[in-house]
Amino acid sequence: MSSVRKIGISTGGGDCPGLNAVIRAVVKSAVLQHGWQVIGIEDNFDGLIWPNKHRELTPDDVSGILLRGGTILGTTNHGNPLRYRVQEEGEECVRDFSEQVLHNARELGLDGLVVVGGDGTMKIALDLYRKGLNLVGVPKTIDNDVAATEVSLGFDTALHTAAEAIDKVHTSAESHHRVMVIEVMGRNAGWIALEAGLASGADVILIPEVPFDLEKICDCIHQREKAGKNFTIVVVAEGIKLPGDPEAKRVEDKRAIPRAGTAAYWVGDALARGTRRDTRVTILGHIQRGGPPSPFDRILCTRFGVAATELIAQGKFGKMVCLKDGAIQSVDIAEAVRVTRLVDPQGELVRIARATGVCFGD
Ligand code: F6P
Repeated sequence: MSSVRKIGISTGGGDCPGLNAVIRAVVKSAVLQHGWQVIGIEDNFDGLIWPNKHRELTPDDVSGILLRGGTILGTTNHGNPLRYRVQEEGEECVRDFSEQVLHNARELGLDGLVVVGGDGTMKIALDLYRKGLNLVGVPKTIDNDVAATEVSLGFDTALHTAAEAIDKVHTSAESHHRVMVIEVMGRNAGWIALEAGLASGADVILIPEVPFDLEKICDCIHQREKAGKNFTIVVVAEGIKLPGDPEAKRVEDKRAIPRAGTAAYWVGDALARGTRRDTRVTILGHIQRGGPPSPFDRILCTRFGVAATELIAQGKFGKMVCLKDGAIQSVDIAEAVRVTRLVDPQGELVRIARATGVCFGD
């Protein structure tokens, strides 16, 4: 019999479709299956630093949120409690609020905390776990770059959004005989670009994991024209390394967040100059983080949420739920944050893309 009576749940980092679905699953399974009380912690760990940023969540409170994008708890990708930026006497300074987080979790009577987040949030969770906070992790991110899980929640929906958008640009490209450059998110990982590009029949896919040469892309566009294809779809991951660009150094910095538009406008301008073809740029941006989760994500979130409560019931703290070989399992959070999950340039997806004529610009 578990001695757990009350748990908390928080959502951290950039939002994505499926966060509400996982909140719903945690609340329902905690209350209905285990008989626990659930406290929703607002705006990531901010809710454990500042007063009045938490509330009880009952099954009624989470009824009807399965399909809703965003997170009813709010989120932030700026609030690391161990290095928290505050204004003191007009000056910005950095403070360690981890003791306050631990203290407030005790005051709230939390026997466990479900932390839903990407790699940044998991790193913070690991620090807090090592300081004594009993927590478990649930991986989320449209970037799909959390290691130790085959997929993070939110990725599948973002992939659908991106592929659908590229499909729509495709018809316009064909009608106007244009080169269309579409930028997708993914930070330093090329998963959305690669998979959305494959799904929508892109001709060129540029990802951070494969350095590219502009002339090869221009060649590809000319070869397509010779074969009677007077349009080209170029899918660009926001985190690609830009040759000769003064920003390239910044983009190479693994911690850097690529600025929306930098990659696609750079590539679009260069291709327009290199091919003298009518070229247009589309930046998908935060549209990829919104909307109702796909059926796959809804089910994954429900599986992850129930598994997270089971980890707490078993006292297995410091673990993150994950998907391995199609089954829900768990790994140490320390293992999950050790590396970033990137596309393997020699992997199967890149190989099948090349085999079907996709140009990676290399
Ligand atoms: O990590 C998710 C993500 O959407 C990245 O793909 C993107 O680089 C970043 O967050 C954007 O962050 P923000 O919402 O802070 O602009």
